[in-house]
Amino acid sequence: MHSMHIVSLVAFLLSSLSFPVLAQVVYDSIHNKTSLQGTWASGSKHVVTGPGFANPANVTFTYPSTTGISYSFTNDNFYEIARYQFTANGTQPSCIVGSISWIHGTYELVSNGSIVTHPMGDGFQQVQDPCAATSNFVQNFNITELYQSWRIFQDPVDGYKLHLFQFDGSPLAPQFQVSTEPNMLPTQLLRNVSQGFTEQNGFVTPVNSRLRRRSGVKTGAATRRWGDAAGATMMLCAIIGGALLAL
Ligand SMILES: *[C@@H]1O[C@H](CO)[C@@H](O)[C@H](O)[C@H]1NC(C)=O
Ligand SMILES: *[C@@H]1O[C@H](CO)[C@@H](O)[C@H](O)[C@H]1NC(C)=O
Ligand SMILES: *[C@@H]1O[C@H](CO)[C@@H](O)[C@H](O)[C@H]1NC(C)=O
Ligand SMILES: *[C@@H]1O[C@H](CO)[C@@H](O)[C@H](O)[C@H]1NC(C)=O
Repeated sequence: MHSMHIVSLVAFLLSSLSFPVLAQVVYDSIHNKTSLQGTWASGSKHVVTGPGFANPANVTFTYPSTTGISYSFTNDNFYEIARYQFTANGTQPSCIVGSISWIHGTYELVSNGSIVTHPMGDGFQQVQDPCAATSNFVQNFNITELYQSWRIFQDPVDGYKLHLFQFDGSPLAPQFQVSTEPNMLPTQLLRNVSQGFTEQNGFVTPVNSRLRRRSGVKTGAATRRWGDAAGATMMLCAIIGGALLAL
């Protein structure tokens, strides 16, 4: 698996760059060329936070044409994340789980250079798992995430580029600044979380046991799952690209 090696090589190279841990690396002109404020999106930039991705009022998504991730940050500590990904199952390669998620809340820039998110509780995700008993469902999505560090570089062609490193140091796909003004849904609770789900677009939710069990795990493991998802997604996209969109 060539691309697997490339992914781990890239991860290794990035992690071995060993960015110096300064007392204040929250914003410095060497590593972070601009502030986090704005909207950032990976790859083809089809996944973008804000209206046009998630519709919290009716708990639906407007599906982007390709997979990707997007993060928005405001200077007054609000964030929003949009993700649309496919994850391969190592033991069952034909079981490719598609997931699309939206979450927002407040974030903290820790003085050691990390970012910690505090979700509001109204996030949700839709999972499509062809091999599960319930193959398509929506559920609440409310995880606190730790990003060990972040860096903004200036690409001569593409402009500002945000690199986020997950709790274990593994990098997310680089994201380009699509706007300096954050493109976000209102930074307040946008749906009644206690209502739960009954039926969305004709399928009943949420009943899947596998994901329910997984959603019970603690932050670290939950974040790791996203790490795996991101890695696998990059790999998958490299190999089969758009073919998966038929899922
Ligand atoms: C959900 O809300 C969005 C935005 O208002 C709307 O475009 C979409 O048609 C709605 N979907 C359903 C299934 O009601
Ligand atoms: C992969 O598929 C197998 C068989 O369906 C399942 O038992 C296992 O939990 C799956 N692994 C992941 C990471 O989803
Ligand atoms: C969402 O997660 C946050 C942070 O862990 C927690 O404070 C909050 O109670 C959670 N909300 C819901 C509705 O589960
Ligand atoms: C920075 O501080 C946070 C919050 O205390 C902690 O969880 C994280 O592991 C620390 N990051 C690093 C890189 O040490």
